[in-house]
Amino acid sequence: MLEFLKGKKNHFIGIDFGTSAIKVVELSYRDQQIYLENYGIVELNFDGQSERSDADNASSYEQKLNDALRTLVKKMGLKNGSQSYVSIPGFSGLITIIELPEMQQEELAKAIQFEAHKYIPSSLDEVAMSWEIVEHVGAPKALAQNIGAGGGNRIKVLLVAAPKKDIEHYDRLVSGINLEVSAIELETFSIARSLVGDDNGVFFIIDIGSRATNMILTERGIVRINRNIDAGGNEITTAISDCMNVSRQRAEIFKRGEKDILNGTESNFIIPVLELIAGESRRILNSYKEKNKDIRIDGIFLSGGSSRMKGLEEYFSRALGQKVAIGNPWRRITAKDEASELVAELGNSFSVALGLALRGMEEYKRD
Ligand SMILES: Nc1ncnc2c1ncn2[C@@H]1O[C@H](COP(=O)(O)OP(=O)(O)OP(=O)(O)O)[C@@H](O)[C@H]1O
Ligand SMILES: [Mg+2]
Repeated sequence: MLEFLKGKKNHFIGIDFGTSAIKVVELSYRDQQIYLENYGIVELNFDGQSERSDADNASSYEQKLNDALRTLVKKMGLKNGSQSYVSIPGFSGLITIIELPEMQQEELAKAIQFEAHKYIPSSLDEVAMSWEIVEHVGAPKALAQNIGAGGGNRIKVLLVAAPKKDIEHYDRLVSGINLEVSAIELETFSIARSLVGDDNGVFFIIDIGSRATNMILTERGIVRINRNIDAGGNEITTAISDCMNVSRQRAEIFKRGEKDILNGTESNFIIPVLELIAGESRRILNSYKEKNKDIRIDGIFLSGGSSRMKGLEEYFSRALGQKVAIGNPWRRITAKDEASELVAELGNSFSVALGLALRGMEEYKRD
C-alpha cells in the first residue's frame, strides 16, 4: 500500500561515468530489503583520457558517451522517467572541512562564502556549493551529536563544491535519454555510502580507477578528508609496459593476470603510481592520527577496478602498517544467483553506481 501511495517509485538507478566504462545499476527496496534488479556496463574503448581534455574533441566525446549510455540503457530495458542518481568524478569537485567560530546561520553563510574563496580558484558563480555543520568543537557530547544545535565554541563545516558546467553536462546526458535525474553528487560520497554507509568508526578508502585515485576518510559515516590523484590503473599499465618493454596492450593483460608482481622479493617491478598512492595515504592517516590522539582507524578498504590487481591488499597492508581489505559495496544488497558471477568478477568496480542507487533508497525510506 505504501509503495502504491508513493507511486511505486521504489526503484533507483545509479549511473557512474567512469573513464574506462559506464556502470549502471538498478536497485529496488521492498520489505526492508534492497534488491539488485538490473545492472550493465559498457566499456568506453575510445581513449577517454586524451579526448576528455581536448576541447576540439569535446563534442565528439560527448556524442560517444551519449551513444554508449543510450545503447546500454536500451539493452537493460530501463523505463523512461526512471529515477536516476548520477556521479561527478571526484577530481572535479572539492570536499573540505573548515573550522569556524559558532555563529548565526546568516552570518555563517557569509563566512563560508568568504572561506570558499580560499579553496576555489574560479569565480564562485561557476560552482555549485553546499555545506553542512558536522561537529561542534568543545560542546557537550549530546549537543555535538545533535548536528545543527548550538552550544560549542567552534564548529566544523563540511564544504562541498563542484563546477556547474560538470553538473549540467551529466544532467544533459542523462535527461537526454529520458531518464529522470533525481540527484547528482560527487562520486566520493557514493563510494563512502556503498562501502561504509553509516557504520560507526573511522574508515579509510582508496578507490583506484583507470584515470584517477580517490582517497576518502570517513568518521561516523561522514566524509572528513578527501584527496584525489590524477593517476590510477592507466599508470600501473604504463609502469608494467616500461619495466617489461612490451606494448600497453600486453602490459594490460599481464596486469590482470594471476601473477603477484607486487610482493615477491625477486620482483623487479617498480610501480611509481602505487608508491605515490601509498605515500599520500600514509600522510593522510598520520596527520589524522596526530590530530585525533585516541582514535584508531577501524578499517582500510580498496575499491575500483584496479583493486583487483593480484597482491594489492598485501602491498597496501605492508605500506600502511595495518590490514587492508577489498571493500564490499554489495554487502547490503540481495542479488539473484545469476548475478553472483558479476559480483565476484566486477564487484568492486560498482562502488560508485551502487552508492548512487543507495542514495535513492535512503531518500525513499526517509520520505
Ligand atoms: N584484474 C585486474 N587487475 C588489475 N587491474 C584491473 C583489473 N581489472 C580491471 N583493472 C583496471 O581497473 C581500471 C578500471 O577501473 P574502474 O572501472 O574502477 O575505473 P573507472 O571508474 O572507469 O575510471 P576512473 O574512476 O578513473 O574514471 C582499469 O585501469 C583496468 O585496467
Ligand atoms: Mg571510477
